Parts: sequence; C-alpha cells; structure tokens
Amino acid sequence: MPSLTPWSNVILMITLNINGESRTVDVDPTTPLLWVIRDYVGLTGTKFGCGIAQCGACTVHLDGAPVRSCILPVSSVADKRITTIEGIGSNGELHPVQQAWIDEQVPQCGYCQSGQIMAAAALLENNPEPTDADIDRALAGNICRCGTYPRIRKGIKRAAEAINALAVESAGGNVDREADNG
Ligand code: FES
Ligand code: FES
Repeated sequence: MPSLTPWSNVILMITLNINGESRTVDVDPTTPLLWVIRDYVGLTGTKFGCGIAQCGACTVHLDGAPVRSCILPVSSVADKRITTIEGIGSNGELHPVQQAWIDEQVPQCGYCQSGQIMAAAALLENNPEPTDADIDRALAGNICRCGTYPRIRKGIKRAAEAINALAVESAGGNVDREADNG
C-alpha cells in the first residue's frame, strides 16, 4: 500500500462509526476511507489493490451496501455505518460467508478475499438464493488473480443454505413461542 501522504493541508477531527464503535481521527478530510481504516484505526483486514476502484480488494459496507473504500473521502462517510471484514460476524461468531469460505477452502493467496467476502455478504443480504448469474453480476468488480471464482460461487451457495436454514430455525422458534403464549 502506498505510504500516507497528505491530500490537502487541512486536518479535521472526524468521528466515524466503524463496526458499531465510534472512532475519532484527526485527518485530512480528503483522505480515502481505506487509509483511515488501515493506518489510523488499525483494521488491516481490508486490502489495498489498485486504489482506483477497479479491483474490489478494499470493499467495505456503508450502511450495508458494498463500496470501494479506496476512493471514498473520509469526510463523506462520517454519518454512515461502516462495516469491515473484522465486523461482519456477530456475537463472537463468524459470518456464514466466512464459515462457508473456510468449509469450501475458497482462498488461494487470500489477498482479494476480504473484498470478495464483503461483496458476497452484501449480495446475500438482498438475495438469499442467488443464481450463478446473480453471483457473477454482483461480484464482477471483485478481481481474483488466483482465479478462485468457482470456489467463490460454491462458498456463496453454501453460505446461502446456512443463512436460509437459520431463518427457518428462527421462524420455527417464533412460532413455538407464539403457541406457548397463546
Ligand atoms: S483498492 Fe479499491 S478497488 Fe482496488
Ligand atoms: S485468492 Fe489470490 S488474488 Fe484472490
């Protein structure tokens, strides 16, 4: 990743919501979010690939939607909910996409995979049963030099099954509770 050089001569105090925590940084407001996440906040799971929104390695979620953090000025995201690869799990558990990535042994060198997982998690949030075409379309901007695309598809399908099974389980629990209360 290129070293951090000032983008302007202005330094502002900016408070960000990252992975549910409030983080305040003194930073040039035009600094891309990726540099702030990695160099100021110390969350290095998000990777630098191209720096021009062409590879997807730097993908994070902004209010749940996948974005390229390498081109987003930090000042533009101060009022948004930012989620990085370190924050997509919950209650100490891996996100189903992370678990599926392990189960399917998706990564090769691993460099692109944080971005792939973030893009996959965002896809499944909106489309719980994606087809191959849906997956290819949603992840078209996430480049893998190792060519893990077939395993990425398998990982997403596996994660979709896990998410849908959890939803059925939780709906069953609710029905049971309603019956108990009735
Ligand atoms: S580093 Fe952001 S898209 Fe490549
Ligand atoms: S696993 Fe190596 S670049 Fe994707």
